[in-house]
Amino acid sequence: MDIKIINFQKHGDANAQLSVAEYKKELPFAVKRIYFLHKVKSSITRGKHCHKKLKQVYIAISGKMKIKLFDGRNNKTILLDNPNKGLYIGSNIWREIYDFSSNGILLVLASDIYKENDYIRSYNEYLKFIRGK
Ligand code: TYD
Repeated sequence: MDIKIINFQKHGDANAQLSVAEYKKELPFAVKRIYFLHKVKSSITRGKHCHKKLKQVYIAISGKMKIKLFDGRNNKTILLDNPNKGLYIGSNIWREIYDFSSNGILLVLASDIYKENDYIRSYNEYLKFIRGK
């Protein structure tokens, strides 16, 4: 599965933490867009789509949440609970984001601007798409 845990550079001291991700070092793509999910009710599942081309890095900058991933062959569930780590997600992976803690904020770094035609939002359509690859 084309996913990877990224460990950010840490430049903290006893009084403050500073985490860094830089293009070509920790970040495998140049960031063209950021967005974040916050104030998400704990009963809610977000995502439920695949991106055909887009690559992303997910960061739990506050609190925690779980990410369920499927690439047509394997399933994986990742707990994000550390702002010093990012989850890189390559193209063609189905993702679901759930179990947000009440303070959970998911920052997303994306390799491209928003393009609705890059999404597959139906799971059945995703299965057809990925089996055809
Ligand atoms: P969506 O990507 O489906 O969110 P999630 O993965 O959290 O379930 O986006 C939700 C809505 O926001 C949808 O109507 C598209 C819109 N949107 C934009 O207009 N621009 C963006 O960059 C993003 C991420 C979403």
